[in-house]
Formats: sequence, C-alpha cells, structure tokens
Amino acid sequence: MVGGGERVAEAPAPVVSGRLPAWLSGRLVLNGCGEYRGMQHLFDGYACLSGVRLDGPAGTAAASQRFLDSDAYGHFRRTGRMKYREFQTPVPADGPAGRAVAVVDNLVALMSKGRAFTDNASVSLTPLPGGQLLALSEAISAAYLVDGTSLATGRQVTYTDGVAGDLTTAHPKVLPDGTIVNFSRSLPFGGYHVYVQDPASLERKQVAFVRDRDPLAPCWVHDMAATANHLIIVEPPIFMSMPSLVLGASRQFAFMDWKPELGTRVHVVALDGSGAVTHTAPPFFTFHFANAFERPAASGSGTEICVDFSVYDDPEIINDLSLDRLNAFPGKDISPSWLRRLTIPLAGADGRPVGPSTLAAPTPLIRDESSYGNFVEFPAVNPRYRGLPYRYAYTTAAVRPTNMGNALARHDLADGTSRLWHAPGGMPGEPVFVPRPGAVSEDDGVVLAALARGDGRSSVVVLDGASMKLVAEVELPFCVPYRFHGTFVADGDGH
Ligand SMILES: [Fe+2]
Repeated sequence: MVGGGERVAEAPAPVVSGRLPAWLSGRLVLNGCGEYRGMQHLFDGYACLSGVRLDGPAGTAAASQRFLDSDAYGHFRRTGRMKYREFQTPVPADGPAGRAVAVVDNLVALMSKGRAFTDNASVSLTPLPGGQLLALSEAISAAYLVDGTSLATGRQVTYTDGVAGDLTTAHPKVLPDGTIVNFSRSLPFGGYHVYVQDPASLERKQVAFVRDRDPLAPCWVHDMAATANHLIIVEPPIFMSMPSLVLGASRQFAFMDWKPELGTRVHVVALDGSGAVTHTAPPFFTFHFANAFERPAASGSGTEICVDFSVYDDPEIINDLSLDRLNAFPGKDISPSWLRRLTIPLAGADGRPVGPSTLAAPTPLIRDESSYGNFVEFPAVNPRYRGLPYRYAYTTAAVRPTNMGNALARHDLADGTSRLWHAPGGMPGEPVFVPRPGAVSEDDGVVLAALARGDGRSSVVVLDGASMKLVAEVELPFCVPYRFHGTFVADGDGH
C-alpha cells in the first residue's frame, strides 16, 4: 500500500548494491494496484503508478509513486466504498433491497456499452509520443493518459470513432512503425473488433471483426501476439458468465466458466484488413505472450507463425491470485505454467492464406522445464526483436515451494536452457529488458524488475541480460505494491 495519501513525492533511491551502468538513463514506470481494502483478488485494487528515475552517468536514482486519479479511486477516497465492480469483487450490497439495487445497477452497467464499467486503469502502460503513457485496464472506460515524468493523470481516453466495444485488452501491441493494434469487444452478442490506432491522435480504424463462438458467453482474452502483418488472438475455452456479472455471484473462476471440452480457438487476423482465419487447438489457458514471428514453414513449403507464450493446463492460476491464497504463504504452490510455442500455418507455397486447421498443442521451448520451476509469467523480449525471430525470452519463474513467482529467468531458445536469478524471500515483478545503445548481441542490455524484498522493503534490481547476474540494486524510499506491467522510457526517447 502507499502510505497515507495519494502521492509520494520523488525522493532519492540509494544504489545499495553494485553500480548502475553508465549508459542506463531513463525512467522505469510501472502500473498495478495499490489499495486493496475490501478487495478479494490481486487484480481488484486501485491503480497506483510507480516511477523510478535511473541516472546511470551520475550513478544515482530517485523514485515517486502516485495513485491514478480515476472516478473509481476518487469515489473510494471520498466514501470508503466501491462504486464499480472490479475484476472479482462486486460492489457490496446490504440486505435484500441492496442486492436488488445491485442487480439493477449491474444490468444498467452491461447495457451502458462500457460507460458504467470501472475506469480503474491498473494493468499496463504504453508509451505514446510526447512523453505520455496510456494506462489501461480491460473496461473500455479504464483508459487514461499519464504524464511519464510527474505521473499526473491526464484526460480519460474516450472514443467517438464508431468502433464498438465495452471491453478491450490492456495489452495493445505497438508495431515497428508505431501503430497500435488492439481489439475491443461488446458483450453479449458481440465479438472482437480488431483495430489499428494512431499513437498520436489515438484514432482507431477497424480492420476485422471476429464473432464470439457463444453470443451469450464471450471468452476472456487477456493478451495477444503480433507480427508486423498479423494479430494472433488465442482464445482459451474460458467463458464469461453474464448471470454472474448481473447477480454478482462467483463462478468457478471469478465470473467465468472453464469448458475444456470446447477447445481453444486461435484467430489470425491480417492487419491489412484482408480477413481472419480461425484455427482450433487443444484446451489450455494463458495470460501473457512473449513474442510472435513469421518464418518459412518447417514443412518446407509456405510460411507459418510461431507464437511463444506462458501456457497453463487450466485457469486455476486465477484462483491462486486471490488475496486469501496469496496471504497464506507458502500455502498452495502456484499453478504450473510453461514457456511453449504454438505453430500456425499461414500461407501455402503459392502465397495464399491457408484455411482453418487443427493445431497441435504448444510445444516446449526449454529442454528441462523444471529448470525454471515449472512456472513462467510476464514474458518479455528485447524490444528490438518484437515480432521478429529472436533467441532470448525473460520471464518471472519459480523456486518452489512458493505461492507466487519468486525468481527471474532468461530463456535461451537456441540451446533450450534457462538461467535463473533468485533472491530468497524476494518476489520480483515483470522483467523489462533495456538494450544497451549500440548493442549488437540480442542479450546485450539489462533486465529491470521491481522486487518486494524478504525484509519488507522494495527495490529495483538491474540484472545483466546475458549472465543474469546482479549489476545493481536500487532501494526504493517507500514500499511498492506488487506491480503488473510497465515500461522503460530512455532519456531522449520521449519522442
Ligand atoms: Fe497482463
């Protein structure tokens, strides 16, 4: 939690171990929840931004923290009560009359085309031109501009461009030319409105529509993968329950049902607007994708897409991240997940797109998957290799027993090995890879990650991207809540 207020002003953050690389100069800005009173799940708290300024030439750092000024958080600050449903926690209702009012409110929210959903943009940050960051969560109203330096909340991003949708993903993909790709979706009776978005004006243009397989129960999709030409939407068989969203009653996984017998759908959407192909695959669950790229097909003719991601057997990880389970350390061991590759046929020898096919289950990318504790999350790559053939993925990992990711890993896809960094008692968040200016080798750079330390304090660790050895540790002048996703903006890189 952030102590005592909405903001912690920037204060020096001492380098307590090693030395910052002289070339590393910029800001690590992270998003995540920071206020959990009354909440049930890790995804439920109010958005709080953490900024860490790293000044490599001077060998110093400084940090600040600030809540996102959303309507959801403002209401909570003023009244001590929730205004909107968050991921798992519904608005509390007292007595039969209160429950009836809540049901009506939930119905109105569902019919509002997303305008009455939470605006708690707590999940991610995407750099935009002019030093702005786009803070997002999955409700279409949970979209705010944030100043990358002061962390001040700017305007709420709203749309009048006619692209339908109540929900979106908090994982927009940025193509090499800077174009943003994402989808919005309406519920129920909807599907995926895939759009391209101008990073400066934020105007969107729909390039494809893919209908839901069950019009009354859309599948939950948290993240996607993209190449320069295609968006790949992997749709596990986890279905949102409209009755749960209206009545506020919990289902097997928050407000969702798992139906493995229905299998996974994989949509390959051409970003030039020429269409989409839907493949089928065995059932599995996923949150996050590492990378995707196109290459000549291994079969010898045509092309294929490789999609690399964190794969779970089922969605039990959702329940693992309830606050009850997280507080019961070591409690139940965190559900296993693996770094694996889905291979999707793209075009035949004549260059024409292939039709729908049945895909094989994702295949392991690391020879001994126990070497990373059978757990990967928050996969990242060198940003210069996004959408391209690559060799190294960086993720969180596990040294078991643990009820949360508690290590960082570098995975070498060429030799199939993993290299771990682990601080006993510590819990690192998403790794962010920062390439060294002028680097030739893909792993020439550093990995940055926030670390909740075993002694209760918070820090940012700087690891060597090749050896995974600690280069420097910056102790933060305040406690940082568990972070989800962030970005590093190098000095002079604010467009
Ligand atoms: Fe995410």
